Amino acid sequence: MIASQEDQDVLAVYFRPVSTVAYILSLGVVQEYRRVGIASLLLDSLIRQLTTPEAVHCKALFLHVLTSNSSAIRFYENRNFKLQAFLPYYYAINGQFRDGFSYVLYINGGHPPWGPTDYIKYGLGVLGRLDPCSWPSRLLHNARSVVPSIFTSLARGTMALGK
Ligand SMILES: CC(C)(COP(=O)(O)OP(=O)(O)OC[C@H]1O[C@@H](n2cnc3c(N)ncnc32)[C@H](O)[C@@H]1OP(=O)(O)O)[C@@H](O)C(=O)NCCC(=O)NCCS
Repeated sequence: MIASQEDQDVLAVYFRPVSTVAYILSLGVVQEYRRVGIASLLLDSLIRQLTTPEAVHCKALFLHVLTSNSSAIRFYENRNFKLQAFLPYYYAINGQFRDGFSYVLYINGGHPPWGPTDYIKYGLGVLGRLDPCSWPSRLLHNARSVVPSIFTSLARGTMALGK
């Protein structure tokens, strides 16, 4: 379930209501143990669990992060999370409003809502697969097999008349 208004765009509408999304509420490693792969290990384990056949309905993994948290942003971007939205004044920390980003990793065939350009690309892709370039050669091939049979029938008709 996608709870808040600003997160409604994480997943394309037609995935609802059967699909779910997973949310990372918090991920932290004690300062002196950072950069040795602990968060990567935890994230890999979570992703492994979310990509089992039992979790196939989970289509996205997402999170919020302060725009100023460059280490976390680098961490998630290096793990293929994509920037989903800029959220002005998303956090209230010690009475101060701070901006946030949401990041998302699509799994199990999930994808974001489509914009007009996606529909155009999809339409062109479908047309491309129909391979209109092969139509003239197919017509020619069919014509080649049809034309001799017409001549043969005509010739037979003429011969029959001449008899
Ligand atoms: C973000 C955080 C969880 C990463 O934990 P970690 O165990 O250090 O991460 P890893 O060791 O698995 O790092 C994996 C990769 O992330 C990137 N990364 C992590 N910290 C980074 C930093 N300070 N600067 C640049 N890249 C960083 C690197 O690409 C790193 O790979 P590398 O070390 O081979 O270059 C950790 O910095 C942390 O606890 N930060 C404070 C809490 C926090 O901000 N949590 C995220 C809130 S959404």
